[in-house]
Amino acid sequence: MSTLIILGAQWGDEGKGKLTDFYAKKADAVVRFQGGNNAGHTVIVGDTTYKLHLVPSGVICATPSYIGSGMVVDPIALIEEIKTLTDGGVDLSCMHISARTHVVTAYHKIMDGINENRLENNKIGTTKRGIGPAYADKANRIGIRMHDLLDAEELRLKVYHNVENVNLLLTKIYDQEPIDAETVYTDLLACGEKLRPYICDVGSEIDQLINAGKKIVFEGAQGAMLDLDFGTYPFVTSSHPTAGGAVTGVGVGPKSIDRILGIVKAYTTRVGEGPFLTELMDETGDFLRQQGREYGTTTGRPRRCGWFDAAVVKYSARLSGMTNLAITKLDTLTGIEPLKICTHYELDGKALSSYPASLKELARCKPCYEELPGWTEDITKASSIDELPVNARHYLNRIEEIVGVKISVVSVGPERNSTIILDELL
Ligand code: GDP
Ligand code: IMO
Ligand code: MG
Repeated sequence: MSTLIILGAQWGDEGKGKLTDFYAKKADAVVRFQGGNNAGHTVIVGDTTYKLHLVPSGVICATPSYIGSGMVVDPIALIEEIKTLTDGGVDLSCMHISARTHVVTAYHKIMDGINENRLENNKIGTTKRGIGPAYADKANRIGIRMHDLLDAEELRLKVYHNVENVNLLLTKIYDQEPIDAETVYTDLLACGEKLRPYICDVGSEIDQLINAGKKIVFEGAQGAMLDLDFGTYPFVTSSHPTAGGAVTGVGVGPKSIDRILGIVKAYTTRVGEGPFLTELMDETGDFLRQQGREYGTTTGRPRRCGWFDAAVVKYSARLSGMTNLAITKLDTLTGIEPLKICTHYELDGKALSSYPASLKELARCKPCYEELPGWTEDITKASSIDELPVNARHYLNRIEEIVGVKISVVSVGPERNSTIILDELL
């Protein structure tokens, strides 16, 4: 096996960073394919914690790491992240950026804030990193790409054109101060000079590595339920955190993929607004938040917590054709008695076999639960499945049975080594 896609199977923050770092040790390259610095991926090695937003998690173990064309990159934030990592002793000479990657600018961040405020009671709860507006410009064919930052003339034309549009909106509609096109242009040009050594044809390089039989990890951000098409729209992000997004976001064909690993938290969390049927607004929810340290890696917001939702994971496994699952944060459930799993939703007394498209319909769905016995033993030192309490194994078996995809990895702590491997995937 030589290619592995790592995907979030819920609403993000499942532990993709941890698992990407784990597999990066064995890989010849890691490539991130969508999202921007709305992502926050944590990698913990020994006593050191790294928080990555744009830089692929492969850099921590110095594996060549690529920013794919499906991402949107705020170059100012990227340069800051490079500096923080470099100051922390991480060598970033192994990093590459696709020339086709779209750029998040100052005006995208302004528009993200304005769009959110206009939604009043229907806010999405975005990370305000300009992600939606940058993907909108891409789809609208007025985006600025990394290669534009290396071409002063082209960059100036594009920035001036876009800022003119944005200023019309800001001054005529939103009653705000205009922004200065020259400042945006000179800031981006300066970023281009700093990022020049990293910019290359990522799709072509990854394709060559795949053809040479090298081991490649595709690192997803966010999760399937935040997918622009298949998530809980409009409470989603603006990219495709699904297996399809991995191939279109890098520029390789779907046949080059061997394994698709869904990262699944042993319960459910969500940051931001939007439906969450198994959410717990009680002391069990608070327990999960405290025990699991469920606070956003990017924005610090408390994450909403709830029971494991198999209807969600089954749906996201289908969307991406997941071949294997990694269950993370099993240790967070220690001490909860009893545990509950939502096995499916019912609408008007009938069990649903897929996930509703309409949020009104979703609001009428009833999550149906099964109770399972919990455990109290500390499982954070377990290094094989046999070392887990029988009830923890039973909990995993039930998830596997209901979702219908094999569990190949179990994570029992945040550190790189707190990982139980059941099947070799790369
Ligand atoms: P990502 O966005 O999917 O990469 O996930 P985040 O890094 O945003 O959030 C996952 C959090 O859980 C991080 O703080 C990780 O260090 C932590 N984590 C990952 N796996 C485990 C685990 O098995 N047990 C515990 N207790 N924490 C974990
Ligand atoms: P990682 O990669 C969790 C959520 C935001 C908001 C919605 C849209 O760390 O799992 P956006 O800024 O993308 O327009 O916000 O998506 N969101 C995430 N939630 N983990 C993430 O990334 C997220 N990235 C975006 O909270 O609800
Ligand atoms: Mg995260």
